[in-house]
Amino acid sequence: MDLSTTYLGFKLPHPLMPGASPLVDDLDTVRRLEDAGAAAIVMHSLFEEQITHEALGHQAAIDMHEESFAEAMSYFPRPEEYRLGPDQYLEQLRKIKAAVKVPVIASLNGTSVAGWLDYAKLMVEAGADALELNVYYLATQPWEAGEAVERRTLDVVATVRKAVKVPIAVKLSPYFSALTHFAHQLDELGVNGVVLFNRFYQPDIDVEELEVVPSLALSDSSELLLRLRWLAILSGHVKASLAASGGVHTALDALKAVMAGAHAVQMVSALLHDGPAKLTEVRDGLQRWLEEHDYESLGQAQASMSHQRCPNPGALERANYMKILASWRPSRA
Ligand SMILES: Cc1cc2nc3c(=O)[nH]c(=O)nc-3n(C[C@H](O)[C@H](O)[C@H](O)COP(=O)(O)O)c2cc1C
Repeated sequence: MDLSTTYLGFKLPHPLMPGASPLVDDLDTVRRLEDAGAAAIVMHSLFEEQITHEALGHQAAIDMHEESFAEAMSYFPRPEEYRLGPDQYLEQLRKIKAAVKVPVIASLNGTSVAGWLDYAKLMVEAGADALELNVYYLATQPWEAGEAVERRTLDVVATVRKAVKVPIAVKLSPYFSALTHFAHQLDELGVNGVVLFNRFYQPDIDVEELEVVPSLALSDSSELLLRLRWLAILSGHVKASLAASGGVHTALDALKAVMAGAHAVQMVSALLHDGPAKLTEVRDGLQRWLEEHDYESLGQAQASMSHQRCPNPGALERANYMKILASWRPSRA
């Protein structure tokens, strides 16, 4: 069964790979992921704040900001609290490159155009085959319009695009108001891939202690649906290749992502929960399903939903929204 796919210009034997996560901090785990069949390795992100803290020193980074911001800066982890500092990150990248044959994708997270973006070049010098820009950002300021958030993100992407020649993917959140338009602008900047989506962590409230409780819950398959919708909307409408990230736990999840238009399928929660062997299980399950259903290739499965694609996905979405609401009937119980 031909499961091959092309993602960011890399011809891969199949679409499954670990998404950005701390799994890459341990070289043995990285080797186990490659042995399990990972088509590529995505490193976790190096954060803008980590780089600026390291460059200025933690206290100096706090002091240089105006007072209200200085308090906010003090919430960030101290440099020693990160698993890998900027230099260690580059060192780990070199070690991973030496240890595996598959493409290695390094990840940078940040939202402003500044010196920290030099790390894009350093990552490439350290051997990164591609970069994933994780533009995780929650717009919380009353004076900041959506357009400004988009502009800043595009400026970051444009700066990195100019700085490096390797393929770039941009990992988005689902909260852009006009995602298709934004994805088109990324296309125009020459971005090679779009990763749908990052996951915002969802803090809870401890009502007894009156405290905000940060929580890191792993995903389940229900989170895939949001990805399927946007993969299907963007598929065929952007030049960039598409990756699914979020809610892939089973072979059927991976298959749905591919049928919706994904060229790559990233897994994190499932691998953190079950270990690298989960990737083999999902790949084998995908192959088995395609064989049992007389498909000749993954590409054929990817094309199989094209009859459901329509030139006006907005109208289809709205019609389905109205139909589904109208279909609800109260239960008799
Ligand atoms: C512990 C943990 C660490 C993560 N670190 C990063 C990161 O550094 N950069 C990033 O872009 N995404 C990061 N993510 C998000 C994942 O790459 C992925 O987008 C998200 O978990 C959804 O996929 P899943 O449902 O397969 O877990 C992290 C997720 C987890 C659970």
